[in-house]
Amino acid sequence: MGLRVPDPAMSLTRRGLLTLAGAATVAGCGRLSDGPGTGRLLTSKVHPPRFVTPLPIPATARPVRVTADADHYVLTQRVADVNLLPDRKTRIWGYDGTFPGPTLRGRRGRPMVVTIRNELPVPTSTHLHGGVTPPDSDGFPTDLTTPRGYSPAPPVQHGAPGQVHEISRDYHYPMAQRAATLWYHDHRMDFTGPQVWRGLLGLCVITDPREEALPLPRDERDLPLVICDRAFDEDGSLQYPSQDMAMHAPGARGQFVTGVFGDVILVNGVAWPRHEVSGVRYRLRLVNASNARRYRLALRAGGRRLPMIQIGSDDGLLSAPITHTEIIVTPGERYDVVVDFAGLPIGTEATLVNDFGTGGTTEVMRFAVVRQATDDSRVPDRLAAAEPPLTTADAVTERQFDFRYDEGRWTVNRRLYDPAGSLAAPRLDTVELWRFTSDFHHPVHVHLAHFQVLSRAGRSPEPWETGWKDTVDVRPYETVEVLAKFAGHRGKYMLHCHNLEHEDMAMMANFDVV
Ligand code: C2O
Ligand code: CU
Repeated sequence: MGLRVPDPAMSLTRRGLLTLAGAATVAGCGRLSDGPGTGRLLTSKVHPPRFVTPLPIPATARPVRVTADADHYVLTQRVADVNLLPDRKTRIWGYDGTFPGPTLRGRRGRPMVVTIRNELPVPTSTHLHGGVTPPDSDGFPTDLTTPRGYSPAPPVQHGAPGQVHEISRDYHYPMAQRAATLWYHDHRMDFTGPQVWRGLLGLCVITDPREEALPLPRDERDLPLVICDRAFDEDGSLQYPSQDMAMHAPGARGQFVTGVFGDVILVNGVAWPRHEVSGVRYRLRLVNASNARRYRLALRAGGRRLPMIQIGSDDGLLSAPITHTEIIVTPGERYDVVVDFAGLPIGTEATLVNDFGTGGTTEVMRFAVVRQATDDSRVPDRLAAAEPPLTTADAVTERQFDFRYDEGRWTVNRRLYDPAGSLAAPRLDTVELWRFTSDFHHPVHVHLAHFQVLSRAGRSPEPWETGWKDTVDVRPYETVEVLAKFAGHRGKYMLHCHNLEHEDMAMMANFDVV
């Protein structure tokens, strides 16, 4: 425990090596806008069957203790051998040894304390993505929990939040935020990509009285769908092209510098599942937990696309539902939609497809209508409490963050990540206009602050990009403007690219809420 003083040059030296590793490949691509599939695909040596394995629902975490102030949970990060594939085991690193980890179910206003125990061979940090969390529980990348007796001690930089805890620590989640689908995942400096790839991710679903009073589909008709791509060796092991398999050097090697893509699509931790449904409405909480893959999702039945009625974005319900036939979901984003299987004959199959995929990645999972049932759910015209949208008049400051591959490195405003640095100091309880510019696909994620997307390439955002969000799809040579509200806590937070390979290769920046 306690603060250690590290060699401040260390991170830069390691980043210097990356320059050499990545430059050649990316330079060879010319413009970095090769379209939605940009990045290199890892090819699996196994070919799991599609639409056979039943869709599992991640277990709900049970509190170990309920006190007057909070519900207490313990999640243990450990090695486990599980069935991501139907016919062979895969070694994973999971919260409680599962992929995804147990779902934390919270209620607005009821704090949660989550003890994370690290029984893995590597340091970890856990971030609650979308959480309005005090800075010392936010999963800062140098705020590490190490295995027992881990050596060498991880470097901590001057001025950076960098407590190092041995074996376990508590994260305090106030749950003082609206009903939403959040997710938690590893956030270790330089190694988030390989650690999330191995399974360190899970959901956190928050409800509130207003949402509970709505007649939306619930219980077994409220399905979380955690979507991610992976690649497998013949023995079932996960492939990941680390620059250094011993995980001493950060980042992905060579051609994978632009992002790691697998050719097997997992939903809730199984390959291309199938789910039997009744001919009624279902709520689907779509979560893109992929390292780098963007999806354009649609639900196809016969020759047509079923409407997806969007009820929520990353950080809560919309004020009113919006109907779409497709939604683009970038890494880190969540979309909450209701689909209706009513009127489809028994035996109908509806496939969740990905129009950005190639080969097997064009399909995600399948629903099979197997029975009729009564449906007392509906999607009301009003969802969240009416709240006027933010406007530019609300913004007290404008700032620009440029996400760019610069002379062999992934940078924000031409800088490599410095855990002790800071690029902005927004004031608590103010709104700022943040302008994101880019050279490539960068899913930009802001910690703490929730935002509304104001414009994309000078025009309206995509129709599904309304409501409160924390992650936005920034496309090559496009400018995206958001109005971000800094509320809840003062302290050091960060924004970064949620392409986890870019993130690990320095595309992060801090800001201080003052
Ligand atoms: Cu989901 Cu800082 O990440
Ligand atoms: Cu990026």
